[in-house]
Amino acid sequence: MSDLLVSGAVKRFGDVEALRGVDLEVGAGEFFCVLGPSGAGKTTLLRAVAGLERLDAGTIRSGGRDLTHAPVQGRGIGMIFQTFALYPHLTVHDNLAYPLREARLDPAQIERRVGEVAELLRIGHTLRRRPATLSGGEQQRVAIGRAIIRRSKLLLLDEPLTNLDAKLRHDTRVEFKRLHRELRMTMLYATPDQLEALTMAERIGVLREGRIVQVGTPRDLYQAPGDSFVAALVGAPRMNLLPAVLANGGRAVALPFLEVDGGPWATALGRFPAGTELWFGIRPHDLAPTVDAQAGPRFRATVHLTEPLGDVTVLDLTVGGTVFKMVLPEERAVRYRVGDEVPVGFAVANTHVFSRQTGTAIR
Ligand SMILES: Nc1ncnc2c1ncn2[C@@H]1O[C@H](COP(=O)(O)OP(=O)(O)OP(=O)(O)O)[C@@H](O)[C@H]1O
Ligand SMILES: [Mg+2]
Repeated sequence: MSDLLVSGAVKRFGDVEALRGVDLEVGAGEFFCVLGPSGAGKTTLLRAVAGLERLDAGTIRSGGRDLTHAPVQGRGIGMIFQTFALYPHLTVHDNLAYPLREARLDPAQIERRVGEVAELLRIGHTLRRRPATLSGGEQQRVAIGRAIIRRSKLLLLDEPLTNLDAKLRHDTRVEFKRLHRELRMTMLYATPDQLEALTMAERIGVLREGRIVQVGTPRDLYQAPGDSFVAALVGAPRMNLLPAVLANGGRAVALPFLEVDGGPWATALGRFPAGTELWFGIRPHDLAPTVDAQAGPRFRATVHLTEPLGDVTVLDLTVGGTVFKMVLPEERAVRYRVGDEVPVGFAVANTHVFSRQTGTAIR
């Protein structure tokens, strides 16, 4: 059962087409992330769902109702904004109670709900204080509390972690997963951060320039990106995308320093003429120094830069004029220094090929 159905959503701001025909279906109780770079249209999409922007075309349905022209109030949708605005002159308690007072709940019920939400979000100790006296993370939890206190079934979250520091971001990611489990709400969560999307979402829709270009589980997007944009967006460090051409009668992918054949793309490549320009994709985690007896493609590269990250090290390698990255566990990386030659190998099963003309994955 779907809880939110967006069909053909178009939104223009003058000459800017912020949404260019967005189709999206979010299941009841699902944690769905909209992942896209700045300017992709995430906020516009969420604001349209909330009723804060009027669409130029398309429809929005939720819980079996057509909401396209419904007023903001009464949609039964909660929203947490990129900048979480709390009322500075009200205490935390009154910030939380505000939406319920607006909805004219009786005072005893309001007190009970404020207590429940404060306990759920662990902000009970802050209820008498004003927002300015809280830490960033506490303020964020109050903003979450205010969005969920009305118990809407659908919660929209627009980059809610952007203004938090790294540690708080991590803790709050965990918190959102717990809240999602405990409240059984449908969550539509917009973020430009692929790590947030991969760690929290049950499914992700990738938004690019006002269009959804791929929808799938985190695993789908990581293992089978539909195009080079998604391939580069999902996973860190990002997938190496090396310029290549189709060679050997349409059977092999020719890199400047290596010919590769027999990958998961081999059959599909047969449809393209020799000389077709391609991107050859391999993730930094899928490259490793070879040992002598190892099967699979291999080549020699030179260490250009090392970037120790603690448990792993990112090695920047060059071969000819091509630069790419390899990730190694720290204990394997320590033996390599800038200028060293490394024998590098990989499994063809882990490689991706994209058309350079359209960006589309070939498989
Ligand atoms: N009120 C507006 N007037 C004019 N243009 C707008 C308006 N709101 C959004 N836009 C434009 O629409 C496009 C999408 O903007 P939107 O805010 O939805 O992007 P976003 O994905 O949320 O980006 P970010 O990650 O930076 O928040 C951008 O080009 C933006 O400049
Ligand atoms: Mg935004």
